[in-house]
Amino acid sequence: MNQKTGQKPAPQTTGHAWDGDLQEYNNPVPTWWLVSFYISVAAAVIYWFLYPAWPIGGSYTKGFDTITYVNDKGVTKTTHWNTRALLMKETNEAVTAQKPYYTKVADTPFEKITKDPELDSFVVSAGKQLFSDNCAACHQQGGAGKVGFAPNLTDDDWLYGGEFAKIQQTITHGRHGYMPPFAEVLDDKQVSQLADYVLSLSKIAVDPVSAQAGNALFHSETAACYYCHGDNAHGRQEIGSANLTDRIWLWANVPGADTIADKEAAVKNVIRKGLNKGVMPAWQDRLSADQIKLLTVYVHELGGGK
Ligand code: HEC
Ligand code: HEC
Repeated sequence: MNQKTGQKPAPQTTGHAWDGDLQEYNNPVPTWWLVSFYISVAAAVIYWFLYPAWPIGGSYTKGFDTITYVNDKGVTKTTHWNTRALLMKETNEAVTAQKPYYTKVADTPFEKITKDPELDSFVVSAGKQLFSDNCAACHQQGGAGKVGFAPNLTDDDWLYGGEFAKIQQTITHGRHGYMPPFAEVLDDKQVSQLADYVLSLSKIAVDPVSAQAGNALFHSETAACYYCHGDNAHGRQEIGSANLTDRIWLWANVPGADTIADKEAAVKNVIRKGLNKGVMPAWQDRLSADQIKLLTVYVHELGGGK
């Protein structure tokens, strides 16, 4: 706006006129814009030379930039820049960064690891990653487990033992719980009585007479449950037979059943069919001894290590 006259200055035009009076304003783009435009063009050209860019037939220009990484067979490779190789390189770097800690974990006795705050925080963070990559598919995120599938690792109830050495053995060699089916050994009434006895051990209100008969059967040579579950029904950790008195259920979905009859049915089903599906895989061929040691401490700390 012209301050004195209050009128706009006449706009600059390119000087051409169409149809008599149609004119084109001359508004050059600002310098900063032009400069950044040329910089972008230059950056694009540099990019085309450095990185994979242009498709040619079934392939593409690979660019001059390279990445060197160590592949999973331990062979060092140099290749043109690409995101897969970049991931490998970053993984290599993470492994190198973790190495001194792994060495320290390997050299430190179990009890001392948990008392060393720096080492312990490494165990928690690296353990969490290893656990979610390898174990969470069965034991669930955080190790809470799932009835009928895999045990809860955050409680202090252990099928095979919660001491460091036991957990390490479980992870290294795997476990396979087995209970024989009783459908052909026991009649329906006996199975019901045993189920009532088992439920009564968890303080569930069942027919006391039936539970009493179940108690006798449990400790008899006919059913011989005591042989594996122990006289007191606390289970035997050498064979992973469940503690039947702790109100923690892995296979018989008692907590998920609403009525007493349904709870009974869940236990009867286990007694009739037995158990053969509790398979904890062995990890000795899939994880290094150091990784297993670290996971042992991690699982021990999840909740109820002994
Ligand atoms: C394919 C499923 C599966 C995967 C994967 C798996 N587990 Fe297990 N795990 C089980 C089952 C099932 C049991 C119970 C075995 C039984 O009942 O005999 C178990 C048992 C255990 C136990 C014993 C618990 C106790 O009460 O004594 C520990 C410890 C354990 N797993 C840790 C791990 C760790 C650590 C990983 C990862 C490296 C892992 N598991 C991966 C299925 C799995
Ligand atoms: C040969 C040994 C053996 C005998 C005999 C045996 N059990 Fe078991 N039982 C086991 C094992 C091992 C498990 C745990 C399996 C697993 O976790 O994979 C188990 C699990 C159970 C469970 C499931 C517990 C849960 O957490 O869901 C019940 C219930 C049970 N047994 C009751 C009985 C009764 C009742 C008898 C007698 C009729 C009996 N068992 C006889 C070995 C045995």
